[in-house]
Amino acid sequence: MTELTFFPNPNLHVFPEQRAWTDAISSVDISQMNSIEQGYFVFTMMPSLRCSLNCPHCYLTLDQRRNSPIMTLADLEVVLHKVDDYYSAKRPGKPKVVVFYWYGGEPTEMGFPWFLGAFKLIDSIFTREKGYEIRHDILTSLLNVEDEWLKVFHTYGRGQFQTSFDGLMRGKGYVKKWDKRVRQATADGLRVSTISVVNHELFKDGPVAILDYLTDLGIQEASFLPFMLNEQNKGDKYEKFAPPMSEYSNFMIELTEHWIALMHAGKKPPMIGQLAFILSRQKLPMEANIAGQTLFLLPDGDFVLPDYKDGWLEFMKPFGNILEQTFEQVLTSKERRGYIRRQYTRNLNPECVTCNRKNNCIMEFWKENRPGDDCFGAKRYVDWLMKNEQIKYLVDDSLIMAS
Ligand SMILES: C[S@@+](CC[C@H](N)C(=O)[O-])C[C@H]1O[C@@H](n2cnc3c(N)ncnc32)[C@H](O)[C@@H]1O
Ligand code: SF4
Repeated sequence: MTELTFFPNPNLHVFPEQRAWTDAISSVDISQMNSIEQGYFVFTMMPSLRCSLNCPHCYLTLDQRRNSPIMTLADLEVVLHKVDDYYSAKRPGKPKVVVFYWYGGEPTEMGFPWFLGAFKLIDSIFTREKGYEIRHDILTSLLNVEDEWLKVFHTYGRGQFQTSFDGLMRGKGYVKKWDKRVRQATADGLRVSTISVVNHELFKDGPVAILDYLTDLGIQEASFLPFMLNEQNKGDKYEKFAPPMSEYSNFMIELTEHWIALMHAGKKPPMIGQLAFILSRQKLPMEANIAGQTLFLLPDGDFVLPDYKDGWLEFMKPFGNILEQTFEQVLTSKERRGYIRRQYTRNLNPECVTCNRKNNCIMEFWKENRPGDDCFGAKRYVDWLMKNEQIKYLVDDSLIMAS
């Protein structure tokens, strides 16, 4: 009963007007606002790690997926106020962009009422009058998502959402169900973007078939991430699923060649996320491809980011706890200062320090490169892209900066 009175009733909730899709960053000069401190915060939300799926490549443990605590709305309110207190003191009256990137776990499994409560809190704290521009990006597997969520994507999501597409990693049944849900969403007028981790299953279909498929689905933007080594997959799974970076670059080059062909043929292939990232970083200062714009919020209030040990083994590095500290204390903690220093110095990798692509490669979270392989920045793909004569005629600047 307590829960019923504490959570807002979704049926009574008044949704905001459906907004035309515009990008939050359009109103600010992002060459001047490239870090949390400068007023650009990609607030990665992981207030629960719960997920009922069993993807073989998941970076979470089974226990985290099934039993993760869910941050209460009361604690979330404390967190949001602390971020607002920081900006109110440091950037009063100045523009501030906060992109809430709902990640997880499976964010939608926190439940509809929880989300509506969170949106309401965010709306009431991060107001336009204080200079905030807010955007919600929601990443979902889309598998067990009820129809009511489409309304959330239309309104709070500004008519869009992101969903993961990892080929047959999750099995045929999943893809079939996912395909149906994506088509339903696009038919409903939503813009759908995908995020894929480049794995051996995707290689079986190959980049040409994958891009044709995503084009047919009407995907707006498709991102392809390198597969990272972590505690969950180290050993057999990593060897089985993860292609080396040299194969990643081959995949991306072939994918982009096909993208160019589709564009010439008058089709509408999705914008390739990495293509947009690489081109847009060229127009931005050097700190634009380091992890100074984001922090991940965990259920217990820890602010963390992916970090690496023993070379390139990924783990979550904590910088402080926002329920116990102020936001400024977390940002200026010894751990975060050390982390940011490591980003600026490109992990002191000899090949990176002297590399002419260090400001627009896709490394982002800096780590050691793997001996005998291409670097984690996919330099070969970056070089290929920068030398390609056709790209600049096909890519609209406003699209890549919005990416
Ligand atoms: C774990 S899900 C979380 C969000 C949501 N539940 C979903 O399915 O979209 C996010 C995505 O991270 C990516 N991912 C998983 N393991 C990864 C790894 N080892 N390296 C890089 N990306 C990975 C996959 O594309 C996965 O679908
Ligand atoms: S492209 Fe490769 S070598 Fe160059 S900076 Fe990026 S990760 Fe380092």
